[in-house]
Amino acid sequence: MHNAALIHAERAVPRYTSYPTAPHFTGAIGPQAHAGWLDCLPPQASVSLYLHVPFCTALCFYCGCTTKATRRPEPVAAYAERLAREIDLVAAGVGSRQVTHIAWGGGTPSLLGPPLLRRLGSRLAEAFDLDRLAEYAFELDPRETDEPLADALAAMGVDRVSLGVQDFSAHVQRAIGRIQPFATVERAMRQLREAGISSINLDLMYGLPHQSARDIRRTVQLATLLAPERLALFGYAHVPWMRANQKRIDEAALPGAAERLEQSEAAREVLLANGYVAIGLDHFARADDMLARAAASRQLRRNFQGYTADRADVLIGMGASAISRFPQGFTQNAPDALSYSRALDEGRFATVRGIAFTSNDITRGALIERLMCDLEVELDPSTLADAAPHLAGLAADGLVTLEGQRLAMTSAGRPFVRLAAAALDHRLQGQAAARHSAAV
Ligand SMILES: C[S@@+](CC[C@H](N)C(=O)[O-])C[C@H]1O[C@@H](n2cnc3c(N)ncnc32)[C@H](O)[C@@H]1O
Ligand code: SF4
Repeated sequence: MHNAALIHAERAVPRYTSYPTAPHFTGAIGPQAHAGWLDCLPPQASVSLYLHVPFCTALCFYCGCTTKATRRPEPVAAYAERLAREIDLVAAGVGSRQVTHIAWGGGTPSLLGPPLLRRLGSRLAEAFDLDRLAEYAFELDPRETDEPLADALAAMGVDRVSLGVQDFSAHVQRAIGRIQPFATVERAMRQLREAGISSINLDLMYGLPHQSARDIRRTVQLATLLAPERLALFGYAHVPWMRANQKRIDEAALPGAAERLEQSEAAREVLLANGYVAIGLDHFARADDMLARAAASRQLRRNFQGYTADRADVLIGMGASAISRFPQGFTQNAPDALSYSRALDEGRFATVRGIAFTSNDITRGALIERLMCDLEVELDPSTLADAAPHLAGLAADGLVTLEGQRLAMTSAGRPFVRLAAAALDHRLQGQAAARHSAAV
């Protein structure tokens, strides 16, 4: 990687898990819009559900997720009650719809514990038609996984689990406030597989404090010994102005842009050498995995949970901070559990912001999604004219090629795909600087 490219790596741009991106959501969209959009879903629209649980036993220093530390069971049980109410409200709006995909995330949704999880699982099964469910996913913390939990998840129908690992090196684990030896992850995976959960993803991270390319290479090697079906390799997004817990990260110990690139390349090399296929910006999977097959047939999608093979037209997010996607726009629930719960107690949706799509948003959003998924895209003349000046620097440094209307990332440019997406983002171009994390 030559030095000119490193200047791009330091630019701060969105992660493009949605378009328009969340900073463009406004309070003009509230519970009425959410209820109205639920009411007028096209009859044949397939639906995907996401349930967010914003609690963890303790906060990891690096965490950028919407979650709070709690050691008491009462707020978690009270929250589960509100989730049940939201499931009922949604079901009343959309009827007994066919749901093709369910995902639980957080936070640490397993903090609900097996009895509450089973109860909410049954509530979902009663409220919706799950006969054609293609995937039932659940985010787990390996430090909090045990046999009863694995059995409860399997009984609910969960068939894909994602475990947070980050890095196996003891000195990195100390620097991020998350002590989790290899044996803990190995045990969790054994318990899940014994319960019959056949697909496991491991989350790894680079760009962490005191982490070196050697650490991440060794971490990836150890991870592959566990033979997960998928791995996600996230670059640490340092946004302490948004996440107070990240103030505990020693900024002087964070790797710079050149080291981050070297780390992502080192991890990628080990994964490819071990038979994993690279997918989009930051995912890897066995070639026969659903995600790899979706990528190969250009049917990969990107949503708030990252890359997915889920092709549902509508995503309904439930729980604090959860985002829904409708044909007309996005809606987002109140970010904190208290305001979320107050709304549900009053019998209404907890929507506090969102955005209605313009036709240009729909065009640009589709192009950005294809670029983030396929790493190349055919632009229309108007987008091309707007984007060309912003792509010129990336092209001059060998990170993208632009031939006719076809924009493609080069192999050196792959880690910079968020920057090429930013060039297609008509809202970013006109916007006063919002703060984002570094591009690579
Ligand atoms: C909700 S957590 C995973 C489940 C569970 N809470 C756990 O930690 O094991 C989601 C994942 O997001 C990633 N993540 C969290 N904060 C991040 C940040 N600031 N930058 C990049 N990735 C981050 C981590 O890889 C983490 O495993
Ligand atoms: S990484 Fe997972 S366990 Fe750690 S604070 Fe974030 S959501 Fe909680």
